[in-house]
Amino acid sequence: MAKREIVIYPHEVLKKPTQKVENIDDNIIKIVNDMWDTMYEDNGVGLACNQIGESLSIVIIDTSIKEGVQPVKLTLINPEIIASEGKQTYKEACLSVPGVAAEVERAYWVKVKALTPKGQEEIFEFEGFPAVVVQHELDHLQGKVFLDRLKGLKRRLTLDKYKKVLKKLERIKNQS
Ligand code: NI
Repeated sequence: MAKREIVIYPHEVLKKPTQKVENIDDNIIKIVNDMWDTMYEDNGVGLACNQIGESLSIVIIDTSIKEGVQPVKLTLINPEIIASEGKQTYKEACLSVPGVAAEVERAYWVKVKALTPKGQEEIFEFEGFPAVVVQHELDHLQGKVFLDRLKGLKRRLTLDKYKKVLKKLERIKNQS
């Protein structure tokens, strides 16, 4: 197991849809383990596979580090939202989009079909905060980040702020 580097937006791998996993072999299990190591190292509650540079349809979720929310810990392979209901707004952030956060409106409840790491197809239901995380991570698999969900002035302000963050990161990188 190993921590991988988190890919930073607007890297291309974050902007294109990921490939479905055909066969859950040792290589896939290794990638999943690397995803867990990487997410825990960076204190995330969810991670999509393309965030470590692998364009595969896998997400991991662990909401247990956050207090007062339903603890959900799962690896979802080839996940698909098959039903959704209601609305909620949550201030989202992303390990691949450092330094900014913005309120995003999403469904309150989602039903998801996915394979487990053992290759079994299962149906999962999420509501509240875990549903936010699931929808955020599944967007990644489609080549979307939360910035793509913003509209109008909020979108412009958040993108402007993010450009500044990227410049700052670039300066730090050039110094080291
Ligand atoms: Ni994210």
